[in-house]
Amino acid sequence: MTLYFFKRLIFLLCLPLLFSCFISGESSKSFEALSPDGRMNIRFAIDKGVPYYSIFRLGKPVIKPSRLGFTFRYAPPLAGNFAVESETKNSMDETWSQPWGEKKDIRNHYNELRLNLVETTGLGRKMTVVFRVFDDGVGFRYEIPEQPNIAQFEIMDELTEFALAGDHIAWWIKAFQWNRYEYLYQTTPVSQIDTVHTPLTLETDDGLYLSIHEAALTDFASMTLARTDSLVLKSELMPWSDGVKVRAATPVKTPWRTIQIADNPGGLITSYLILNLNEPNRLKDVSWIKPGKYVGIWWEMHLDKSTWGSGPRHGATTANAKRYIDFAARYGFDGVLVEGWNVGWDGDWIKNGDEFRFTTCHSDFDINQVTRYAAEKGVRLIGHHETGGGVLNYESQLEDAFSFYENLGVRVVKTGYVNYDRGIKRVDENGDVQGEWHHGQFMVRHYRKVVETAAAHHIMLDVHEPVKDTGIRRTYPNMMTREGARGQEYNAWSSDGGNPPDYETIIPFTRLLAGPMDFTPGIFDLLYEKERPNNRVNTTLAKQLALYVVIYSPLQMAADLPQNYEANPEPFEFIQDVPVDWQNTQVLHAKIGDYVTIVRQDRNSDDWYLGSITDEKGRVLEAPLTFLEAGKKYAAEIYRDGEKADWQSNPYSIVIEKKTVDCGSTLMLRLAPGGGQAIRFTPVRE
Ligand code: NOJ
Repeated sequence: MTLYFFKRLIFLLCLPLLFSCFISGESSKSFEALSPDGRMNIRFAIDKGVPYYSIFRLGKPVIKPSRLGFTFRYAPPLAGNFAVESETKNSMDETWSQPWGEKKDIRNHYNELRLNLVETTGLGRKMTVVFRVFDDGVGFRYEIPEQPNIAQFEIMDELTEFALAGDHIAWWIKAFQWNRYEYLYQTTPVSQIDTVHTPLTLETDDGLYLSIHEAALTDFASMTLARTDSLVLKSELMPWSDGVKVRAATPVKTPWRTIQIADNPGGLITSYLILNLNEPNRLKDVSWIKPGKYVGIWWEMHLDKSTWGSGPRHGATTANAKRYIDFAARYGFDGVLVEGWNVGWDGDWIKNGDEFRFTTCHSDFDINQVTRYAAEKGVRLIGHHETGGGVLNYESQLEDAFSFYENLGVRVVKTGYVNYDRGIKRVDENGDVQGEWHHGQFMVRHYRKVVETAAAHHIMLDVHEPVKDTGIRRTYPNMMTREGARGQEYNAWSSDGGNPPDYETIIPFTRLLAGPMDFTPGIFDLLYEKERPNNRVNTTLAKQLALYVVIYSPLQMAADLPQNYEANPEPFEFIQDVPVDWQNTQVLHAKIGDYVTIVRQDRNSDDWYLGSITDEKGRVLEAPLTFLEAGKKYAAEIYRDGEKADWQSNPYSIVIEKKTVDCGSTLMLRLAPGGGQAIRFTPVRE
C-alpha cells in the first residue's frame, strides 16, 4: 500500500469522528465535498442558525469552523436564522488553454457543493454559498439571488472568517496604509499580524503552505484580512469614503474567497486555482494580444538623469525616443515605453492629476513622427497614461485617449495611479468631492472599465498602482501585467536603500501568487554612484538575469539605459534570448525568503530556461535536469556569479560558460550572497 493510500484510509476511518465534533453545542446536519483526489474536504453546517464552513486536509483541520455572512445598512444582517433549503453537487474536469501565460494548458478539476440557504424567520431571504474543492485548495463565494425582500443593498461588513488551525508563520504587508501595496513583507507568527492584504502566505507547523486570497474581483471591494481573535482572520473590505463597503443589487455573485494549500512553497506558485475560478475568455479574437519585451524612457527619470516634466532635461523628446527605437530594433525588442510625452507632468503632477491631457504632446515630442519611425523599424511605441489618481479626469478622456493610441498603432498602454492614502478623487451625488482608496469598489469598477475600453481598442494593459490581481486576465487576456508591490524603481530612489537581497525571494510566494508583475528587471549598472550615491541595486548582475525567469510577466522590461547594455554585450544576450511566454513552469527549489529556482519551457521553441536566486546568503543548490526531454542533448548557456561575487562587495563578477547536458545531468547552482544564476537550455541538433 502506498503512503498516499494509507493516509487516505486513515482519513476515511477518521471521518465519522470529524463529523461528530465539527461544532460544539447544538449541531445540525453537516454537508461535505471532497477534492477530486480525496485528500481535501470542506464541511458546512449551521449552528443555531449561523452558517459555518471548515476545511480539512488528510483529515486534519486547516480552517476550523469559520463563520459566513454579511451585515447591511438599512437591513438586518444576512448572517443568522438560516436553514439549508437544498444542496446540489457538481463536478468539473476540463482543460483550457491560456492564450499566453506561465503554462499553456490548465486543468480545471473540482467538486462543487452549492448550499441554498433561507432565513427561517423575519424576511425569509435567500443566499447561496458555493464551494469548489480542488486538489490544491478551496474557493467559495456567496450568491444572493433576485427575491422580494432584498433588491438594492449596501454591505457594511462581510463576516467571512478564516479560523486558522495554528499560529502559522505569515508573510504579509499591512493594509489600509498610505502607500498602497508598496511595502516590504514582514514575517511573523499569525498572532502578531493586524490587518493585512492578500495574498497572505502561511507556513504551518506540519509543513503545509497556504495562501489566502480572492478570485474574480469584478464589482466588489477588495478583501483584506483583519485578525479578530488570536488565530481568526476575518474579511475586512476596503470601504467607500462613506464607510459603505459594497453597493450592489440582486442578483449578486461575490468574488471567490480562496485558500490554496500545498505541501511545499513551490506548489503555491504552480497552483492555477485563482485562474480557474475566473470566467473564461470573453474576447473572441485574441490574435492581437502578444506578450513581448520592451525598453523605454523610464529608468533615466528614476535616476533623475532626465525629467517627466518639460524643460531642458525633458526625457520624452522625439530625438531621445528615436534613440531608444533604434536600440530596440537593433536588439529585437517589441516595444519602447515613453513616459512624460504628454501635457500634465509639469508642477506637482501627483497633486494635480486633473491636469493630464492624454492626447496632447509637449512641443518637443512629435508622436506622429515617433510612431511612424517605430513602425518603419518594426517596433511599437508603448503608450503611457499616468493619471496621478485623477480618475474622473481620465475617464472623461478615456475613449479619446485609447482611440488616439489605437490610430497610432500602439498596442500596449501602461497606466499609472500615483496617489496615496484615500487620494482618489470622486464627486458624489451632491457634487461634493470625496477621497477614495485605490482598492475599494469605486476603483475596482474604474480599473475594470479601463480593461474593457482598452480591449475594445485592441490594446493590452500594464497597470501600475493597480488593485491587486485576482485572475481577471483569464476573462480579459489584454490585462497583461501590473505592479502592485515595490518594483525595481525602489532601488533608484527609496530612502530605505531599496529592496533588500531577500525581497525577490519573497515576492514569488506572495505578490506573484496573485498574477504577473511588471517588476522591470535587468539593471546592469548596479551602483549608479554619480546619479544616486545613496542608492544601488542590492543584487549581483547574474541575479538580475535570473529575475527574468523567476518573476513571471508577459510584458518584460529591459529596464536599464541602452548604453549600459551595449557596454555588457555578453550578459545582455540572455535578456535578448529569454522568452516571455511559456509552455510550462516547474519550481525546483523553494524556501520563502531564502531561495527559489524556477524552470520554464519556451512556448515557441524546445528551449528551457532556469532562474535561481538567493537572499543575502551564498548557497549551492543541486539541480537535477529531469525536466529536459529524455534522449535529447542540450547546450546549456550558463550565466552564473563569479567565484568571488558578492552583492555588496563584488556585484558585477559574472561567468558565462557552455556545457552539454541531458535529462540525467545534475548542475550544482553556485549562488553568491545576494546572487543568482540564469541558464538557457537549447536542444543540440545532432
Ligand atoms: C510609478 C510607476 O511605478 C513608475 O513605473 C512610473 O514611472 C511612475 N509612476 C510615473 O508614472
